Amino acid sequence: MSNHPNDLDAFWMPFTPNREFKSNPRLLVSANGMYYTTSEGRQLLDGCAGLWCVNAGHGQPKIVEAIQQTAKELDYAPGFQFGHARAFEFASRVTELAPPDLDHIFFTNSGSEAVDTALKIALAYHRVTGDGSRFRLIGREHAYHGVGFGGMSVGGMVKNRMYFGSLLTGVDHIGHTHNLEQNAYSRGQPEWGAHLADDLERVVALHDGSTIAALIVEPVAGSAGVFAPPKG
Ligand SMILES: Cc1ncc(COP(=O)(O)O)c(C=O)c1O
Repeated sequence: MSNHPNDLDAFWMPFTPNREFKSNPRLLVSANGMYYTTSEGRQLLDGCAGLWCVNAGHGQPKIVEAIQQTAKELDYAPGFQFGHARAFEFASRVTELAPPDLDHIFFTNSGSEAVDTALKIALAYHRVTGDGSRFRLIGREHAYHGVGFGGMSVGGMVKNRMYFGSLLTGVDHIGHTHNLEQNAYSRGQPEWGAHLADDLERVVALHDGSTIAALIVEPVAGSAGVFAPPKG
């Protein structure tokens, strides 16, 4: 780390109680393979692979080399009227890996942006295909879809919603599948609970299906607790 004076005050941490953290900070300064190194020099096993996003291990030489090479070759190209050649190449390669009907790629910089973009694509799709009365977006209680207004609106985390006014209008929620009484000790996907998805029928009956643009659910919820979906 640099010798720049640092009272930790300037950086507002997301999703972390700031005062508590700053009175007893847990700073990570480097990582290699499966281990982080803390500012005190301790090694920490990274059991989560970052937030499930460093699955090849930290500092994986091939990845480091690819990042360095890409920055050197063409670090940035304007996205308006010009295109970065590598973006097209990468998009083609992703479509080859994806199932056959997933054949177009829209890149974003975060999950939050991806969710807001997906909601916008759903609304615009119905609009341009002559079905513009489909404007409702349906989410699920306890869901997490990021921190943009769209994601917070279809999300179901109370503390993420309560400070931000009316959020998006025309949003409704179905119930969550998590049920401690039934599933507290299940391993893997619980046997009980597939019928809870039928709560969508209630929402359809209330609003009429012809007003619904999209339903968004996490296949495996990961933020309000990690919940595998019930079988079925
Ligand atoms: C299902 C889901 N959607 C959206 C997000 C938001 O992603 P990001 O933190 O990259 O904005 C997350 C992040 O954990 C997520 O689990």
